[in-house]
Amino acid sequence: MKVLILPDAQAAIQRAADIIARTVIAKPDAVLGLATGGTMLPLYKALAQRHRDEGLSFAKTTSFNLDEYIGLAPDHPCSYHHYMQEAFFAHVDIDPARAHLPKGDAPDPQAASLDYEALIEAAGGIDLQLLGIGQNGHIGFNEPTASLGSRTRIKTLTDSTRRANQRYFASFEETPRYAITTGVATILSSRKCLLVATGEDKAEAVANMVEGPVSAACPASALQFHARATIILDEAAASALKLTDYYENVHPQGQDSIFD
Ligand code: PGA
Repeated sequence: MKVLILPDAQAAIQRAADIIARTVIAKPDAVLGLATGGTMLPLYKALAQRHRDEGLSFAKTTSFNLDEYIGLAPDHPCSYHHYMQEAFFAHVDIDPARAHLPKGDAPDPQAASLDYEALIEAAGGIDLQLLGIGQNGHIGFNEPTASLGSRTRIKTLTDSTRRANQRYFASFEETPRYAITTGVATILSSRKCLLVATGEDKAEAVANMVEGPVSAACPASALQFHARATIILDEAAASALKLTDYYENVHPQGQDSIFD
């Protein structure tokens, strides 16, 4: 794992935007795995700004989002389809026909999950998978105890995830209980992973992911098996790590090491 520690959230976001921009410039038809959540909002804003100011183009990229709530139609204001439209797709030149999310309102969500996994494979797999991390260590909606061998499927959300996401809904009761999510193994099949975490409320999950044992109790710890996983943190999210001196020695100010 490459652990890059940046002084603050803004610097962490810019560093993540650099890596995504570099990927898309080197391979304009890259397949991107995209994520949602509060952490990603400033990242999408930074990418949209680079599109506007520097001509960074997503016209040839294909994207696959990690997850979608079951039961929410794409135009539901709390759906991840709507989030992605508002936060990113509407501000860049990505082809809507190649911007994919699981179909949360499909009549048969199980079949829709299998179709989604097949679609990723048909696109040649994911070049760069962007990830956030839940306070409980989830990636996508792979909640603690999710199989580390899992592929896209239906997951029941934990109450802690529903409470964290309740802010987007009218009440806890209205916060969906089920989602379609790509699996831990789907994520590990990506050629590169880029996880971004900011803020002290992520510090414990980050420490479990990076320095804890690999365990389904912290699904993000499965990234220890990935040969090309980069973890971008601000100092607050890095605050429970024990080997900070080492990470800062290898990647001073979160920059590439001399061997990168
Ligand atoms: P957040 O969500 O960015 O809103 O904290 C991250 C996640 O749950 O993966």
